[in-house]
Amino acid sequence: MSQPEQTPPEQPPAPSHPPTALKADDPLPPPIVTTPKCIIRAHHPSDITRMQRAADNPAVAKYMSYRFASPYTLEDARRWLDLAATLKAPGTDILTCYAICEPGTSAYLGGIGVQTRTDVEAGTFELGYWIGQDSWGKGIMTEAARGFTRWVFDTFPSVVRLEAGVFSGNEASVRVLKKAGFVYEGTRRKAAVKHGVAYDVMVFGLLREECIRN
Ligand SMILES: CC(C)(COP(=O)(O)OP(=O)(O)OC[C@H]1O[C@@H](n2cnc3c(N)ncnc32)[C@H](O)[C@@H]1OP(=O)(O)O)[C@@H](O)C(=O)NCCC(=O)NCCS
Repeated sequence: MSQPEQTPPEQPPAPSHPPTALKADDPLPPPIVTTPKCIIRAHHPSDITRMQRAADNPAVAKYMSYRFASPYTLEDARRWLDLAATLKAPGTDILTCYAICEPGTSAYLGGIGVQTRTDVEAGTFELGYWIGQDSWGKGIMTEAARGFTRWVFDTFPSVVRLEAGVFSGNEASVRVLKKAGFVYEGTRRKAAVKHGVAYDVMVFGLLREECIRN
């Protein structure tokens, strides 16, 4: 017997994106990490233009996954801001993805964050980061990675390990990780294929007790 047809209650149309946590006229969020060369804070709607300009560069996207759009439009930036406002560590109200900004002006330079895992790997968070090409080679990501990894271990007591995967050829990223104390653990051969090119992915790990604290 068929079910009687039910008329759904009147509802407003679903928004295409979840709402951003902050509004444009909200104050900038306070830093979670402060170093001489950068601050790290939650994203703010006013970051959109600088984020899009910094991200819309094939040299930045080259060693990133397809989730990092290229070309990178204002709509991509808006979608990321909306999503990042919802990404929280399991069982907490703490965001996992942040903006790297200039000290003083708080102008957006790049992004850093962790992806959480589940089940027996719940104690491992995966680190990811990028910064606009104008800012490369100034030691900014080295400071950001050190400060952020410390913050992660201090903020999430159940995390025992941070992990990062680097495409073969991304020597700057390898340097950043090594200077933040990460240890090379092995290579997943041809683990990433991007635009038809197969990349080996080097795996780096940082245990809580290895985190650089000075
Ligand atoms: C990787 C990245 C984050 C580095 O940021 P950065 O702020 O320029 O890094 P730093 O200035 O702190 O340090 C870079 C280090 O790499 C070295 N480096 C830069 N380019 C290099 C290259 N082609 N080969 C070898 N080393 C290189 C620098 O000399 C420096 O090392 P040193 O301090 O020992 O001299 C930046 O290049 C980037 O955003 N790239 C695009 C996105 C990306 O690849 N993200 C990482 C994915 S795993």
